[in-house]
Amino acid sequence: MRTIVHLSDLHFGRIDEAVIPPIIAQIHDIAPDLIVVSGDLTQRARSEQFRQARQFLDALPQPQIIVPGNHDIPLFNVVARFFSPLTKYRRHITPQLQPTFIDEEIAVIGINTARSLTIKDGRVNDRQIEIARRELSTLGDHVVKIIVTHHPFDLPPGPRHHDLVGKALPAMRAFAICGADMLLAGHVHASSAVSSAGRYDIQGYSALVVQAGTATSTRSRGESNSFNVLRVEAHRIVVERMSWQAEQGLFAPAAAQTFTQRGNAWSQTVTP
Ligand SMILES: [Fe+2]
Ligand SMILES: [Fe+2]
Repeated sequence: MRTIVHLSDLHFGRIDEAVIPPIIAQIHDIAPDLIVVSGDLTQRARSEQFRQARQFLDALPQPQIIVPGNHDIPLFNVVARFFSPLTKYRRHITPQLQPTFIDEEIAVIGINTARSLTIKDGRVNDRQIEIARRELSTLGDHVVKIIVTHHPFDLPPGPRHHDLVGKALPAMRAFAICGADMLLAGHVHASSAVSSAGRYDIQGYSALVVQAGTATSTRSRGESNSFNVLRVEAHRIVVERMSWQAEQGLFAPAAAQTFTQRGNAWSQTVTP
């Protein structure tokens, strides 16, 4: 079994300082095999905000798989936005925009969905889909295959369709072919874990689609700060949400969902 801590939407520049020491200490206690950060490390893509994000990442265990979000592209500096959108991200966070972690039990591929041409929206492109498909196709069935993006492939109920990642359907069809098991994302600052079968009707295939809320920012949109702990083994994944309890000054387990796989379809196991 592998334990993954899934953080998202850190938004350095607009963080709640009170959560930083506890989240670092609690993640060390969890002792994950891997940390995933699904984008929006900063609020406005400023150098100082990236430096603070880097300091935070350095205080957490390794290895880490990180992808950028729309907030990691400069908004107001138009020249930087279009000609060097991820220069600071690459300098401070990682030069790797399609990071990969593969061991005997899990394979995790990060895909950059942040784009200069839109303020908030994001998309995957054919090249990224093909690289992920090729990489995952070579792996055996016992390896749990995980894709990380900032923009999500599914959303909690509500009228926010524009938040879905662009080109989601062709990507899902490619993921069906290579057997991607789980899709991790952020962006909407709301936690959820669902089977993709509710949104994508692909014969015999569904993935587990997991969103993390915002781990550290005050842009909480009604949900307190949170992160996910994923216990991953072949054909079974438990998604646990850790939720910030301000009075106690710690993150406490808030909900746990178990998903199992039959054939190529993941669905939630409902305990009676
Ligand atoms: Fe965000
Ligand atoms: Fe975002």
